[in-house]
Amino acid sequence: MISLLLIFYVGLASTVVHSRAASEATTTTTALDAWLATETGYSLQAIQNNIGSTGIWAESAKSGVIIASPSTDNPDYYYTWTRDAALTAKVLIDLFRNGETSLQGVIEEYVDSQAYIQTVSNPSGSLSNGGLGLAEPKFNVDETAYTSAWGRPQRDGPALRATALIDFGGWLINNGYSEYASEILWPIVRNDLSYVAEYWNQTGYDLWEEVDGSSFFTIAVQHRALVEGATFASAVGSSCPYCESQAPEILCFLQSFWLGDYILANFDSSRSGKDANTLLGTIHTFDPDAACDESTFQPCSSRALANHKVVVDSFRDIYAINDDAAEGTAAAVGRYPEDSYYNGNPWFLCTLAAAELLYDAVYQWNQQGSITIDSTSLAFFEDVFSGAATGTYSSSTSEFVDIVDAVTTYADGFLNIVKSHAATNGSMAEEFSRDDGLQLSARDLTWSYAALLTANNARNAIMPPSWGETSASSVPATCAATSATGTYSTATDTAWPATLTGGTGTVTTSTAAATTTGTTSTTSTTSTTSTSSTACATPTSVAVTFDLIATTVYGQNMFLSGSISELGEWDTSDAVALSASDYTDEDHLWFVTVNLPAGESFEYKYILVESDGDVVWADGDNESYTVPTGCGVSTATVDDTWDS
Ligand SMILES: *[C@@H]1O[C@H](CO)[C@@H](O)[C@H](O)[C@H]1NC(C)=O
Ligand SMILES: *[C@@H]1O[C@H](CO)[C@@H](O)[C@H](O)[C@H]1NC(C)=O
Ligand SMILES: *[C@@H]1O[C@H](CO)[C@@H](O)[C@H](O)[C@H]1NC(C)=O
Repeated sequence: MISLLLIFYVGLASTVVHSRAASEATTTTTALDAWLATETGYSLQAIQNNIGSTGIWAESAKSGVIIASPSTDNPDYYYTWTRDAALTAKVLIDLFRNGETSLQGVIEEYVDSQAYIQTVSNPSGSLSNGGLGLAEPKFNVDETAYTSAWGRPQRDGPALRATALIDFGGWLINNGYSEYASEILWPIVRNDLSYVAEYWNQTGYDLWEEVDGSSFFTIAVQHRALVEGATFASAVGSSCPYCESQAPEILCFLQSFWLGDYILANFDSSRSGKDANTLLGTIHTFDPDAACDESTFQPCSSRALANHKVVVDSFRDIYAINDDAAEGTAAAVGRYPEDSYYNGNPWFLCTLAAAELLYDAVYQWNQQGSITIDSTSLAFFEDVFSGAATGTYSSSTSEFVDIVDAVTTYADGFLNIVKSHAATNGSMAEEFSRDDGLQLSARDLTWSYAALLTANNARNAIMPPSWGETSASSVPATCAATSATGTYSTATDTAWPATLTGGTGTVTTSTAAATTTGTTSTTSTTSTTSTSSTACATPTSVAVTFDLIATTVYGQNMFLSGSISELGEWDTSDAVALSASDYTDEDHLWFVTVNLPAGESFEYKYILVESDGDVVWADGDNESYTVPTGCGVSTATVDDTWDS
């Protein structure tokens, strides 16, 4: 809450507008921002280097084959893993959806390579033999089967591949290319969904390829795949009754991984069960439309936050480079504390996952407009915010603002650790030494780069599409050991169009409006993005992000007030706080995302609140805005400037 002693309607805000922001936090953020700007470019290039046949580190790999690493000995990772490749393809598809149109070719080649690899008989089985070959963990780079001993099957692979392909399919459908989604993608996706529906209730190897049992990561991504699979099936004019019948049962089983204070990574394990497996499970089933749901372990759920603390804390005093880092400050994160592979070290992708989970939680709190602390999550919050107490804090409270700032700083700390162990040229291997921080094991690990890109997107609130969590989070009263049979068939259609141009079916509007009455005003441009869901449905609510460029000094805060209840109906004590977590010396950005009813029209204005509570209104007319209602629209952005 903002307590207001005085309300000034000021015609001239130029006294504050011309001040320079110069806090120490800003300096640190800027160094990280600058590194990320370079590192994201390096990472995208390195991923492409690791994809055959044009990638310079994967020249002998077949077209579209994503290798795990160019390292051919000690260790030999010159293979393609279905899991790593799918997680990487998902990143490329999300970048493509956000405008990296040059990735079209490599995405199509990945799809074609997976259609073929699904048909390759291997030690796990074959496609025609009840789909059993689909969960083979890795293949040779020439798309032949790897026939030596290995931890197989690994049942997360088909689920992750379905998720990546559905992501691309959603874009195709929303952009007027439905026939390619139904004719090329659906037969491949259907095989993977059929596999998950039939075998989810059987044991297999975990993502680290060591434990044969039931794994949180695997079960979580399987649930997600069947939920979005059912929606995708109807969007391509088909159906997936086996997805619909099995998804709730998988969610039911998923609950048994919650131990009351953290998430158990694997059953059938002699270990503590504390494992970055669970951080990865949470970030890869994060849904930007979801509430802080406990059942699906959303990043802002009390379960996920409590687990984050337990997992990160388990590495503080075992790695010399962490130097017993205090709880609530970042630490290098490995796979699990008992790990002995290469003597057990922090991994880039695990440290990045710890950051990404927190950025996702911040995004969800901003969406929800509140933070709830309960007895489960209290210990997590106590680490980052002195005086944390159970309760619900709305976005207009100082506690909300302080917690968001503290958690963002905590998350940035993990990225700073990654920054300090990446090579000067940007290169990232699989691990960095627990003793001296030098890089170890496979060089240029594709997954390290994919993890860097997803963490950076989450930091910038650039979110992947929803997978439909909001209608798939209720847990059946009793769990059942079940299975359902789908359809396995060879996918043969690879006839892509020469170009895919966005916009055919996309709802995009861009309008500019400027109010210049008076000396202080805001100028406004708006844009919307569609394609958050696979089906082209009229939205009921839209996540509207207000980006405001406003130069402030330490202690000043920006709020959004307006005529509708979500913006406090002009009552400044109910105004919505903007976040300065992306404010830098170069970019004076304040932002907030508010869920608003589609089609609603309203007036709004920004206010600046001084450290003593005085309120400064933007001068000029009220701005007006109508929330878009177009087919498939899920998010919209309003760009405003507070200037004189
Ligand atoms: C199968 O599902 C039942 C019900 O959730 C569960 O008790 C059992 O542990 C599961 N087994 C495996 C291997 O997934
Ligand atoms: C980047 O640096 C690493 C280690 O410092 C080196 O091994 C690698 O060859 C470099 N990569 C490129 C593309 O220059
Ligand atoms: C903005 O709207 C409020 C509420 O209707 C009104 O009190 C105020 O005068 C308006 N401001 C301007 C500058 O029109």
